[in-house]
Amino acid sequence: MTASAARRCLTIVLAAGEGTRMRSDLPKVLHRAAGRSLLGHVLATARDAGSEALAVVVGPGREDVAAEAAKLAPEARVFVQEERRGTAHAVLAAREVLAEGYDDVLIVYGDTPLVRAETLKRLRAPLARGAGVAVLGFEAQDPTGYGRLISEGPNLVAIREEKDATDEERAIRLSNGGLMSLAGARALDLLDRIGDQNAKREFYLTDVVEVAVLSGLAVAVEAAPEAEVQGVNTRAQLATVEAAFQNRLRAAALENGATLIAPETVFFSHDTALGRDVTVEPNVVFGPGVTVEDGAVIHAFSHLEGAHVGRGVSVGPFARLRPGATLGAGARVGNFVEVKNAEVEEGAKLNHLTYVGDARVGARANLGAGTITCNYDGVSKFRTDIGADAFIGSNTALIAPVTIGDGAYVGTGSVVTEDVPADALAIARAHQITKPGRAARLRAAQKAKKAAKAKG
Ligand code: UD1
Ligand code: MG
Repeated sequence: MTASAARRCLTIVLAAGEGTRMRSDLPKVLHRAAGRSLLGHVLATARDAGSEALAVVVGPGREDVAAEAAKLAPEARVFVQEERRGTAHAVLAAREVLAEGYDDVLIVYGDTPLVRAETLKRLRAPLARGAGVAVLGFEAQDPTGYGRLISEGPNLVAIREEKDATDEERAIRLSNGGLMSLAGARALDLLDRIGDQNAKREFYLTDVVEVAVLSGLAVAVEAAPEAEVQGVNTRAQLATVEAAFQNRLRAAALENGATLIAPETVFFSHDTALGRDVTVEPNVVFGPGVTVEDGAVIHAFSHLEGAHVGRGVSVGPFARLRPGATLGAGARVGNFVEVKNAEVEEGAKLNHLTYVGDARVGARANLGAGTITCNYDGVSKFRTDIGADAFIGSNTALIAPVTIGDGAYVGTGSVVTEDVPADALAIARAHQITKPGRAARLRAAQKAKKAAKAKG
């Protein structure tokens, strides 16, 4: 066990920002990237970094943010920062939990979702070696707007916000990523000594560095890549963050043994799970909650969400799997087929132009082109159960609730309203009427009528 694993860690997520520049009715931290809210990413990363307690600081009236925290991390405690008076003031909104005496306190931002768990672990490490504060620093391409790390010799002595910095200090490129760790035993004492004597009249968390130095505590800097501290303030930055997540997820899929023919055209969710030797063709989108087992092929232009794809299954091209779709081994779901809340058992075939919703399709059953489960009467949803080895002829409407027995055969073009027993043949369509010579006579009559009209 490493020293930091034995230490009890609290993570405080600051999420009381207003997010004005998003121009959105949705709070910034509830915007999504890779199928999960920004807050959700940060909470998951904090847990992965070994944090056993979580606190989220939200703005007044932000029940929606509190609800998201409760959904994704029921153990998280939510604190309201009544007035927005700076980052240190925000941390102190969680005073109650800070007073509980954790060994490590991590402070992260709800709008900075790309930070990796390994980086947060590194940020905790100096505390185990006795530091009072550790700061996540990075070499900014363009440091404008960031706090600058001011050092004396090898020691960090202060963080200066852009607005309060001298020209000389502004020339420093080593910047504050914003994320920090504090020695839990000292955190409240240090934070309570921060004042608001600065350009913005705010309580700056960054001043904790000077306060710690004055107390004779060691202050450490851990370096991070700039990409990890990328915050989201605008929709453009949200798109940048999405792209960064997608690149990570594509790289991970390739690393884990999937073939992506054109990785840059495949979009994953944070939780997409692909088995070995899965092939994903171009232009496929994975919404949240998809698992794909070994050897399956997802053909081009398919959209999957909340679905399980079994071993060796073929999906698409142009297929849509919606939540609750589960495909057994070797099943085939072809072009223009939609499956929702349905178990498609092993070897079943839904090859073309079909809708299967609220249903079971038994093993090896074959649904002809244009088979539709009519699951909704405008008020309620009903189930369709199709037995193993059943054969449904093309362009058949199955009016749920309805059961097709094992091995049954339904004639093409049927509208099935009653159950079909196992091994029965059901035909539910009008009888064909054929009238010999009638088409020719009809055509002659039509032509004569047209000629008479042209004459007079
Ligand atoms: C902060 C740092 C700066 C660093 C930068 C990195 C301070 C004083 N400055 O500046 O050194 O380079 O982050 O991005 O800490 N928040 C609250 N309540 C508040 C104020 C902020 O919850 O009263 C939250 C925001 O929602 C956000 C985070 O704290 O998630 C940072 O606040 P922000 O206003 O973005 O700080 P910066 O000015 O960017
Ligand atoms: Mg910011």
